[in-house]
This record gives sequence, C-alpha cells and structure tokens, in this order.
Amino acid sequence: MPLFGREAELKALAELIDDPGDRSGVLIRGEAGIGKSALVAEAASAASAAGLHVLTTIGVEAEQNLAYAGLHQLLYPVRAGVDALPAPQRDALRSALGLAESAEPSAYLAGLATLTLLADAAAVRPLLVVAEDVHWLDRASADVLAFVARRIESEPIVMVATLREGERPHMQDAGLSPMPVDRLSDEVAAELLDSIAPGLTPAVRARLLAEAAGNPLALTELPAAMGRHGGTGPLLSLSDRLGGLGPVLPLSERLERAFTARVAALPAPARTALLVAALNQSDSVSETLAATGLIRGSTAEPEILAPAAEVRLIELAIGTVTFRHPLMRSAIAAASTLAERRQAHLALAEMLHEQPDRRAWHRAAATAGADEGVAAELDCAADRARHRGGIAAAIAALEQAARLSEGQARKALRLLTAAELAVESGSRATAERLVRDAQALELSPRRRATAAWLLSGFEDGVREDVSRVSELAELAASVAADGEVEPAARILWGAAMRCFWSEPGPAARRSLLAVADRLPVPADDPRMVAVAAYVAPFERGGIALDLLRKLAGATGAAPETDRYLGSAALQVGAFDLAAQFSAAAAPGLRAQGRLGLLPRALAVQAWSRVRLGDLAAAVPVAAEAAKLAQETGQPFMYGLATAVQAEIAALRGDHGRARTLADEAERVALPAGARPVLATVQLARGLAALSEGRFDDAFAALSRILDPADPAYQLALRAYCLPELTEAAVRAGRTDTMRDILHDLEPLAASTPSPALHIGLRYARAVLAPNEEAEKLFTAALRADLTGWPAERGRLHLAFGEWLRRQRRAAESRSHLRTARETFDALGMAAWGERARQELRSAGESSPNRDPDAREKLTPHELNIAQLAAEGLTNREIGQRLYLSHRTVSTHLHRIFPKLGVSSRADLARMLTTLEERSSRQGSSVGDHTARRGA
Ligand SMILES: Nc1ncnc2c1ncn2[C@@H]1O[C@H](COP(=O)(O)OP(=O)(O)OP(=O)(O)O)[C@@H](O)[C@H]1O
Ligand SMILES: [Mg+2]
Repeated sequence: MPLFGREAELKALAELIDDPGDRSGVLIRGEAGIGKSALVAEAASAASAAGLHVLTTIGVEAEQNLAYAGLHQLLYPVRAGVDALPAPQRDALRSALGLAESAEPSAYLAGLATLTLLADAAAVRPLLVVAEDVHWLDRASADVLAFVARRIESEPIVMVATLREGERPHMQDAGLSPMPVDRLSDEVAAELLDSIAPGLTPAVRARLLAEAAGNPLALTELPAAMGRHGGTGPLLSLSDRLGGLGPVLPLSERLERAFTARVAALPAPARTALLVAALNQSDSVSETLAATGLIRGSTAEPEILAPAAEVRLIELAIGTVTFRHPLMRSAIAAASTLAERRQAHLALAEMLHEQPDRRAWHRAAATAGADEGVAAELDCAADRARHRGGIAAAIAALEQAARLSEGQARKALRLLTAAELAVESGSRATAERLVRDAQALELSPRRRATAAWLLSGFEDGVREDVSRVSELAELAASVAADGEVEPAARILWGAAMRCFWSEPGPAARRSLLAVADRLPVPADDPRMVAVAAYVAPFERGGIALDLLRKLAGATGAAPETDRYLGSAALQVGAFDLAAQFSAAAAPGLRAQGRLGLLPRALAVQAWSRVRLGDLAAAVPVAAEAAKLAQETGQPFMYGLATAVQAEIAALRGDHGRARTLADEAERVALPAGARPVLATVQLARGLAALSEGRFDDAFAALSRILDPADPAYQLALRAYCLPELTEAAVRAGRTDTMRDILHDLEPLAASTPSPALHIGLRYARAVLAPNEEAEKLFTAALRADLTGWPAERGRLHLAFGEWLRRQRRAAESRSHLRTARETFDALGMAAWGERARQELRSAGESSPNRDPDAREKLTPHELNIAQLAAEGLTNREIGQRLYLSHRTVSTHLHRIFPKLGVSSRADLARMLTTLEERSSRQGSSVGDHTARRGA
C-alpha cells in the first residue's frame, strides 16, 4: 500500500540516499504506529531499486540481553568479509559475534571492525544500513552502531535508524540527524481510513478518525477492531469498549488492547503458539512449534499459526514467523497470565539446550523465587557475555542472577560484581543502582568496603565531596589491616586521583601518604610511585623523578602503566617525561581498543607538549583527545583537552578562538570544580591577555591558579606557570607581589628537583633581580639543561635580550633577541615572536617576516592524518590508528595535498620532515618521531 502523506519525509530520505554528502544518516523518531517502519521500508525499497545494498537489523525487546545479537543480524550478509579484516579487528569482531573465543575483546575494536567491513562492502556497492527499533537493540550492538555512525564521512554509507518515543534513547548522540514523524493531518488521515475501510457510516467514520488522531496504525487497525460492533447498536467509543478505562490511556495502549481483543478471538492452540512466538527471541517457526508442542503434549504443525496470520497479527514465511507490528507482539505477552508465560518460557528453555544463554534467560523469566541453579546458569551467561565484550549483557545477567540468588551473601557478590563491570564500562547510573541494592543487604566487612569504594572510580571522583579523600584513606588503612593489599592499593589509587582533580587539604594528603607508605608493596612499584606523585608532588618529587627517569628507557611494554606514569610525570613538573610516557602509551591503547584510556594519555601528552612549546605536535593530539573524551563520556578530560586547545590558540595569537575554547572548557569544569581544567583555562586566558598586551588581566588571570581560595587553584600546577606569571607581573607593575609569590614557593623548590618549577624559578629570579645580579642569573638560567624545553629557552633569551638592551648593550642583546625570534617563529608562538622583532628593531635590527608554517593550514585532524601518511603508513593503517575507515583517510588526503601544494606522499613526507626539523632544531628533541606525536 502506498503511503499517505509523508511527502516531505520521503523526499528527505530519497535525497539523503541519493547524495549523503557529509551526512551519516537520520534517526527517525515518533510514537508507536506513527509510520517509522513504513517510511524505512519505502526508503529501503527505493534504495534497493537504485542499486544500493541494504543491510538491516531490528531491535527486539526479548533480545535486549543477548550481547551483539543485533550486530550479528546486521552483518550476517557480509560475514564473508570478516576474514579479510586486519587481525586485531577480525578477532575482536569474531569473538563479539560468538564465532571465536578471545578474552574480552574491546567494543571499540569490534566497532572499528564493523566500520571497516561496512566500508569495504560499500566500496563495491553503496550501502544503506537500517537499524530499526534501536531502543530494543542490545546495548553492545547499539554502541557499535553509534560508533560507526559517528565515523561515516565520505563512505557511500547511509544509516537510517528508528526510535520509538518514550523508549531508551539509544543512538541519540551518534550524529544522525533527527527526523521527527508526527501524526497525519486530518485530511490525510481521512484518505487513509477511506482506503482501508470504505463505506463506513459517517458517525463511525468520525469516531474512528477521532480515536485514531492521525496515527496510521490506529487508522489501519481500529476499523477491524470496531468492525464487529461498529455497524449496529449504540456507538461506543473504542476506549469505552476496550476495558472501559476511558481516553486517559495512551493511544499505544489502546491499540494494544485492540490487538488483545483480536487474540482473544483465536482458538486456544493458536493463542498458545502465538504466545510462544511472542516470547521467543528468534523468529524461527520450528522453535516456536517445538515449544508449543511441548506445552500441548502433541506435535504442533505450522497450521496452528494460520488463524493468527488470518487476523493479520503475524506473517508467516518459509521458516519464520514475524509480528506485523511490535505492539501486536507486546499485546500478546501482556494479555497472557503469569502461568501461561511461565509455561511458554520453560518450554522454550527446554528447546534450547544448544543455546545456553537464551536458555538461561528463559529459565530466569520462568522463575519467581530464588533458584541457585538458574542463577548459576546466568552467571555463566554473564561470563560468556563478558568474554565477548558484551558488558551490558553481562551486567544484566548478573543482576538477574542476583534476583534469583539463595542467601544474601551470594546476592551481594553478584550485585557487586555487576557494579564493578558497570564502573569499568562507565555506566554510572547502573553502578549506583547496583551498589545501592547491595548496600541494602547484610554485607561482610570486606564487601561493605568494596561497596564503599567502588563508585569512587568514576571521573576520578571529581564530583564527590573532598571529604571522601580522608574517608578513603581510612578505608584503605582498614582494608590493608585485613591483609587485603590489592584492594587497599586500588582504594588509594582512587583517592590519589582526587588529589589532582580536587584539593582535599594537607591533612588528608598526609594521611593518604602514610597509608601508602605502610602498604607492603615495593617502594618502586610504579603504581605507588604515581600515587605519591599525585598526593605529594613536591615532597615526593625527587623520588618520583628518579624512578620515572629510570623507567623512561623501558616504555612500550605496558601501555596502561606508561599512561599513568605520564600523568605522574606531569604532577612533578617533568613535562618532557610526561609527553614521552603518554606518547608511548598511545599506540598500545589504540591497538587494544582502549578508547576510554586513550584520551587521557593524549590529553596529558598535549598538555605537556604545549608547555614545552611543541605546538605543532600538540595540535592534533589535543584535538583527538577532545573528540575521544567526548565520545567516551569523559567530560573532564574533554574539558582538559579543550583548555589545552585554548592555550594553543592563545600562543598562536588566535585570541577569539582561545576565548571560545576557554569558555567551553570552563563551562564543563566549573560546576564540578575540576581544578586542573580550570587552572589550564586560566593559563590560556593569561597567555591570551599577555599576547594582546593586557597585562593587568594577564596577571589577574594567572594569579588565580595560585590562590587557594580560587576554584582554579591546583596544588601542583600553580608552581608550573612562573615564567608567564613573572612576565605579566613585570609588565603590570606587580613585581613586589611577584617577589612575595616566589618567596612562598622557594621552600617547595628545596624539596624537589622538578624541572618545571626550577626552570620557572630561574627565569623569575633573573627577571626580578636587581641590575647588578641579573646578568649572572640569566647566564645561569641559560646554562641549565633546557633540552626539550624550547619555549622556556626562548623566553629566557627574550628576557635577557630585553634586559641587555635596556643596559644599552645593543650588540649583545641582538644575538639573544634573534635566537628568541627564531625560536618563537619555529614554535608558532606569534605574540612572543612579534615582541622579539620589536625589541630587535629597537636594538637596531630589522627582521624578516615569519615564514608561515604550512602545517597551520591544516585542521588538527588533517595534520594527524598527514603526519601518519608522511611516516609511510597506508590509508588502511592510518584508519586503524585513528579509528576511521580507510576511505575517510583517503578523502582527507585528497584535501590535504592541494592545501600543502604537494602532489604525492613522498612530497608530503619531505615537507613535514623539514618543518619538524625546523621546530626541533629549537630544542624540542623529545623522543623520536613517533614518540613526538604519539601515533
Ligand atoms: N503514511 C502512511 N500511509 C499508510 N499507511 C501507513 C502510513 N504510515 C504507517 N502506515 C501503516 O501503519 C502501520 C504502523 O506503521 P509503522 O509500523 O510504520 O509504525 P512505527 O512508527 O514503526 O511503530 P512502532 O514504534 O510500533 O514500530 C503499518 O501497518 C503501516 O503500514
Ligand atoms: Mg516500527
């Protein structure tokens, strides 16, 4: 039947399919029966006719807890392509789909594998991916589809998804454009009704139109419901007739009741078979008939379902039975008795000996009270789901098992295990619910402790009250006293993270450190070193630095360790090591598909690189960190990476952009008081003000990082922006205040050899010194090891050159100013390069204009791709690194070449190498090429 109305929607869909451009697809949403599926069906048949390959998956309520069931359905027709995938992707996808065993594959790798597979298929024939009723898709499949949708750029792939209003809003943030579907206009509704049920009396017709209110499902199905009574007797409203509950019931429920009425009229055997089919997770007729046979005690033939097909509740095809509408399916289940449903589930379970997961869920559905046997089956199902990377399914199985547990201890264990999985996968609401349920039980002291610290893993505890740090210290101490070293270490770790994001005060820091010191683990255990660096960045700076330097030669073996050592290095002010460790962590995290940790490593890397002055390397890293942090739901990491981008913009003289990005980062961080983000925001604002010559503003912005009463105060970071602060203070005429600040910080310097702190102090001391001491201090500062700190070296030359010029030693000043100019030009620090030029001019020397750095013409994303291509990676390899399809990579390269004026990868490589050498001649010799950009 042709669709009535919907011209606009159909036109939009046709245009999308015809020429998707940069769009990835649409998310069609609307109430039940409004015509979402009908639109999709039209679009799909038009797409097929136009030569597209259509792949479809349909969410089914009963399948929600079977990990990757939806993805399996989608990819089945292209499964042959799986073998051609790169090994890690292939393995991840095969185990996700249950085709092979591998330990807990990353969902992101399965996502990347899906993207590659679809892009490969689309290269042969353009692809329409249909995801119907995504609210009922199992979580793992929905996540993969969202991951893919976010990455469809230039591939000839279009995704069309449908979401029923009021259900779980899966895929809402996947970058699909929303397409709301509303009720039909009165006129169109009337046309539709007249075509379905011609010749109705005007009264019946009017009533039907009113009842249906423009909902096509109602318009097409209610005439049948009314049919038996509609023509005779007093006209009752449908709502009156169907249960007498009146029009308060939403339309979907009234429709369900209409379908229930249709079911009630069927013969008993058909009703039984229909219920089995409704509860079955698959559409297999043979399964349904076999289970029906078990219930009825005799073989069931396909004819048993014929009456249901006749009244248009189901459609029978070879081997399959499908419901004509999801509301018909739910109506059948809703209208049955508990005993009937129980019987049907048990019969299905009986049938499914070969399929333990489905069997376990059916048995669970049939069990009201406690049953350890069924709970144990669900435990196994949870294990299997976890091994396939289906964390949401594993949690659901464990929670169901908890419900069926005999005894509080077993129940608590299952709830807490599920909660731990929820924490790991970042599902905060689920974890909180599970922990709350567990806490309501009688718990052993050990479990009570677990319940108490489990939730502390979220967002490093940013949103929690700082008093939690002392509580966690006590908890760790008591857990350690019970001999539970590993759990104690984990609690300490959680507490240490909070010392970065928030400020618990000196007493809490001391007690944490004391517990950590007493823990029976080797002092050079990297994790405990990191804990100490977070908790006491100055007091323990020396020890941490020693160990970090020792470990710096052995990176690459354990990406997660490299990652946290990178952030530990940042705490103690060793930004060169921070950049090196976090760059080393990235490839491993990418390869393992750990996209949750990756943005953390990238953010730390970008943060450090900018502080070192290596802007070109920081740009793509910061952009990728922001993007992945957002995608993986880590707002504070997103804030941090955004603040770093603001800092870069400020240094480059792009003040408008700096302001926008700083505001955005602050917006995310301020409500939760995420201190490092706010400190970085102030740093960016201070730099922008310095660069614009607003020195009072610059000093005000930067001082906030050092004011314990300010939300931007951060214990460690406050000591790592001294050169900028001094520059602002001198120009704003606040040298006395600055001297006081230095005076306060000197004791910290006595306790740690922190490079950032000492470099900053040497600069500040020289700049603030009386004339008779300045030269000695500048010379000392320049003589110190500044390898890898080109920005600081540039600042020193600039300040020394300015001082020399003021001393009327113009000739000497010029060589310093020239070095400063060259350094800042190479680094792209616009305002500082300009200041060096001005000073040089005053010292009697003119400067050439800065050669523009071709890299600045590229977007961060393009720069990332260009750098990898220059390294000799193929498009496929670049795609694997950046979690993109190779097709997108190739499109980007086509845009990059003309921007840079090159026509081959070889030219590109030559150009980027020359540019990188130019920057690194200025001293940013941090690690080798790959380490610099953390590929
Ligand atoms: N514009 C239309 N013209 C004629 N028939 C329509 C129209 N829209 C929908 N229908 C019919 O109405 C019924 C319900 O539509 P459909 O199944 O597409 O709803 P839906 O929005 O997908 O509902 P659900 O959320 O329950 O999946 C179908 O039988 C369909 O063929
Ligand atoms: Mg539908």
